[in-house]
Amino acid sequence: MIYLDNSATTEPYPEVIHTFVTANERYFGNPSSLHQKGSEAENLLREARRTIARLLNAQPSEVVFTSGGSESNNLAIQGIARAREKRGRHLITTAVEHPSVLETCEYLETVGFSVTYLPVNEEGVVSLTDLKQAITEETILVSVMHVNHETGAIQPVLEFGEYLKKFEKIRFHVDNVQGFGKVNLDIQSVGIDLCSVSGHKFHGLKGTGFLYVRSGVNIQPLVFGGGQEFQLRAGTENVPAIASLAKAARMAMEKKEIQNSKLARMKQELFEWFDAQEGVHVNTPRETSAPHIMNVSIERTMPEVLIQALSNKDIHVSSKSACASKQPSKSAVLLAQFGEEDERAATGLRVSMSWQTSQADLEALKAALSQIVPQVREMKEVKS
Ligand SMILES: Cc1ncc(COP(=O)(O)O)c(C=O)c1O
Repeated sequence: MIYLDNSATTEPYPEVIHTFVTANERYFGNPSSLHQKGSEAENLLREARRTIARLLNAQPSEVVFTSGGSESNNLAIQGIARAREKRGRHLITTAVEHPSVLETCEYLETVGFSVTYLPVNEEGVVSLTDLKQAITEETILVSVMHVNHETGAIQPVLEFGEYLKKFEKIRFHVDNVQGFGKVNLDIQSVGIDLCSVSGHKFHGLKGTGFLYVRSGVNIQPLVFGGGQEFQLRAGTENVPAIASLAKAARMAMEKKEIQNSKLARMKQELFEWFDAQEGVHVNTPRETSAPHIMNVSIERTMPEVLIQALSNKDIHVSSKSACASKQPSKSAVLLAQFGEEDERAATGLRVSMSWQTSQADLEALKAALSQIVPQVREMKEVKS
């Protein structure tokens, strides 16, 4: 099996599963309970929070555990909108965000907020000029992803953060779900107020993640009912999952340099190979992109057909984000990048690697595509 869909999810590290199982066996107490079993679970929870905070160079009280990226994005955006609606009702985001950001913004539009969706250039990148033009007296939040989930494009969050520092009223949220452990992001120096991270994107478990909330930034919770997570997320904490998240985050950071240089080498090789293929357009920016994602449009093919044909050979890739991939529509990211008329928007294929990806995997992918693409094109021509 050749798994090249690591932007959708990754295989958990065995150590992460071990931590989860062991913590379930030994630390099943409720961390809010006063007895010893409760204290043991509370200590484990506290330790996990400290670990994450240390990796972020943040305070433990700034780490709010959630169920993953979607919940963190919702908590950040709805949380700021609700907490700051008296100061203004305008939000700014980009046209290429993950659905958990876009649909949250669309929902807020139905309840009286207005949202500006910044456009992107042909490399899928937003510009500071557009941000400057979008800001109004009413703006309370700017939400921009760090690494795009479909193309790997890195957004200029550093530049944005620097510029936004002078707006006391505006909070800055970064969706770092695809960037954590792969592309450096210094939350403190960039001036980020809220940052979303998801465990299953870096070999942690599904249903784990956190939202960094800078000290002093007020947000409204989505779930009420208990004092957990600094009153921001009611409900008994999933301590074993949280401990496993801390384990995965630590491993991701420890292995970062070595994994990234391997990934960068493999991506460069894929770049060169795809560049040399007839009728193939590389949609991922060559310089400013994450090391693990590669997006290409293959002329006169349908991504769904290619995905199926590759899958029949036990090679697993994707087109759009996993939560949108069963919908027949074009990729919203590539549409924003190229426009409705451009065939590239309808023919995108995403290859996303991890530390487990080998040279042999890439050779198998190239061989399979060399065989499948001409067949798919021929079939398409016969039909039309
Ligand atoms: C950029 C980005 N944000 C948010 C999410 C949602 O994360 P989760 O699956 O943990 O809810 C994803 C998942 O694909 C993503 O790629």
